[in-house]
Amino acid sequence: MVFTAVQDAPLRNTGQIKLHSEEHFAGMRKAGQIAAGCLDMLTEHVKEGVTTEHLDNLAREYALDHGATPACIFYRGYRHTVCTSINHVVCHGIPAARALRPGDIVNIDVTVIVDGWHGDTSRMYAVPPVKRKAMRLMDLTYSAMQAGMEAARVGNHLGDIGASIQNMVEAERCSVVRDFCGHGVGRVFHDAPNILHFGRPGDGPALRAGMFFTIEPMVNLGKAAVGILPDGWTSVTRDRSLSAQYEHSVGITETGLEVFTKSPAGIDQPHKLAAVEG
Ligand code: MF3
Ligand code: CO
Ligand code: CO
Repeated sequence: MVFTAVQDAPLRNTGQIKLHSEEHFAGMRKAGQIAAGCLDMLTEHVKEGVTTEHLDNLAREYALDHGATPACIFYRGYRHTVCTSINHVVCHGIPAARALRPGDIVNIDVTVIVDGWHGDTSRMYAVPPVKRKAMRLMDLTYSAMQAGMEAARVGNHLGDIGASIQNMVEAERCSVVRDFCGHGVGRVFHDAPNILHFGRPGDGPALRAGMFFTIEPMVNLGKAAVGILPDGWTSVTRDRSLSAQYEHSVGITETGLEVFTKSPAGIDQPHKLAAVEG
């Protein structure tokens, strides 16, 4: 059996896809909105001279002030509330004393726990002026996530999500990172199934109402290959090309998709606020 009703499911990744009830949607809505509100709050703080450590402190305080627990602190030895992934960093960039500079593009990824439910989301921000090719990459990454969300509906399969993302990205001569994927989410942070951002239409399990997962494509301007820095976390493009990522936590409904981490302030694409160079 591939699916299990969530009330019967243990509080861990059993490898089975959990199907959630209406109350669980309410739990994810609350967690997702606090995670999204945290990213909204950070928008005006992303500017030249600000350190990623400072952004992490702001995110932690926001979470605690809103009755949420930062999910990443103590997660597999991680010590921060957010990941801050700048330029050629693909994901899992560690907040540090590094100050943001004009032209930097940065992904901020936050996960909070509210009443046991995980809200996991990330967006791209930029310090102006940004290069045209960087702006194009961030636009493409957001569109690719959206294409994945449009494919995430009853009647489709998991492979349709990955295929739609891969098609859009490769049509623009960019590449999809294959070493990291989206994941089931809920009371478990990283649950089954893996959500690959590439694949073939019709492959994999059928999508069913009550599934919760993230869609979080990482897109590189150059080749797909990534490496991990000696800190054990920071993932970078091997060719040092720019990389971008967007992430939403979503739930499948009978009629469509609920996006738990939609921006309450309407800042779903903060990267668009930055002026382009030249
Ligand atoms: N938020 C990341 C994700 O999208 C996970 C970060 S784990 C950490 O799944 F420990 F690096 F923070
Ligand atoms: Co995630
Ligand atoms: Co995340």
